[in-house]
Amino acid sequence: MAHSAEPRPMRARRPSGGLAGTHRVPGDKSISHRALMFGALAIGTTEITGLLEGEDVLRTAAAMRQLGARVEQRGPGAWLVAGRGVGGLTEPADVLDMGNSGTAARLLCGLLAGHPIFAVMTGDASLRRRPMLRVTEPLAATGASFWTREGGRLPLAVRGALDPLPLDYRLPVASAQVKSACLLAGLCARGTTRILEPEPTRDHTENMLRHFGATVRVADSAQGRVIELEGQPELTAAPILVPGDPSSAAFLLAAALLVPGSCVTIANVGLNPLRTGLLATLREMGAKLTVTNARTEGGEPVGDLTAEYGPLQGVEVPPGRAPAMIDEYPILAVLAAAARGETRMRGLAELRVKESDRLAATAAMLAANGLAARIEGDDLIVPGTGGELPGGGTVATHMDHRLAMSALVMGLATHRPVTVDDAGFIETSFPGFAALMNAMAGEPAIAAR
Ligand code: S3P
Repeated sequence: MAHSAEPRPMRARRPSGGLAGTHRVPGDKSISHRALMFGALAIGTTEITGLLEGEDVLRTAAAMRQLGARVEQRGPGAWLVAGRGVGGLTEPADVLDMGNSGTAARLLCGLLAGHPIFAVMTGDASLRRRPMLRVTEPLAATGASFWTREGGRLPLAVRGALDPLPLDYRLPVASAQVKSACLLAGLCARGTTRILEPEPTRDHTENMLRHFGATVRVADSAQGRVIELEGQPELTAAPILVPGDPSSAAFLLAAALLVPGSCVTIANVGLNPLRTGLLATLREMGAKLTVTNARTEGGEPVGDLTAEYGPLQGVEVPPGRAPAMIDEYPILAVLAAAARGETRMRGLAELRVKESDRLAATAAMLAANGLAARIEGDDLIVPGTGGELPGGGTVATHMDHRLAMSALVMGLATHRPVTVDDAGFIETSFPGFAALMNAMAGEPAIAAR
């Protein structure tokens, strides 16, 4: 399942004309992980359409099978999950390997905390560097026991609670993964789990809990958003339509905004307001973006997005917007480099603990291609060139799919081609990325090196 261990260098160069057409991106990664996990906890068979078949989500599918659920692929993006009921997962016979996926690992910690079973979890070299204490610490209050490596790193072992206690927890970092882990544990607990999030984060877990029949209350208070979940509900299988991933659509949008003469439509993109921070920022930068066919599907807002090439203006991106565009900063930095004037992206501490240290790696990506960027505290500052992008560099992607895609999109607009050391990790979230970009270009602008 994992891509080959051999690095797969790729190179992007300017296409001869603008990018065009109407395209679709693969299914939303966050919703896909959750669909498989909730399906495994529901009574009955959940039919999923549009599931992202990237490596990260396939890891979650494999883990659900190891925990006793029946998970079957019926066709492209069409999956069936026969659930075990809340509290019904069984002990895995072997180690759960979550590959490159922080979401899979952290959400699974919540799920395991609520089941009286023993499990061991690991991941690839990138995931084994990432902090897990942010979930294991709050989850220990359920009565579950966790053992981790030094610094709270994977591999970890967990013995879930026999009679899990409901959590009452204030999120110290804006993280949908931590919130979701606590809510997943809360499903198995007797009583009400209460989470306070000072800054709202993506709410796909809350939406899907309701979709499967759980009682979830959300209220805004002076301290932030309060989410309450009634424990031990009976979750009932429900069909799930996974929309296109806005974080994947961001790369197509960016390419259209960067390459002269482009006009691209991306159909069927998720437009959950807690995911659309990039669209707000791009509008402030003067980007020509339109949403058509806006609708709600399976409890999530969806629409078609059109982006047209045009000049961009540098802006200040406020720290409060970070949770709604947390995965989009590397590609925003590329757009900021081409904009007129400086862009200051504020409050990016969380980028340091993604698949790579994305703050440092994003600045290095620009520097390797003749572009200035500096880090001040938790801010990233990019002085724009007004459109002239030198390129010619090789970008170290540090096992990080979003850096690889950001660098390749940049290479569609630079004077000299841009090379990435390893594009293999793109398979974690966006299978078919290069082929789709080349379809927009009408020529092989992105190719193996
Ligand atoms: C995700 C939450 C975000 C995001 C990740 C997916 C999720 O992580 O970066 O790609 O599905 O809940 P954090 O919760 O750590 O910010």
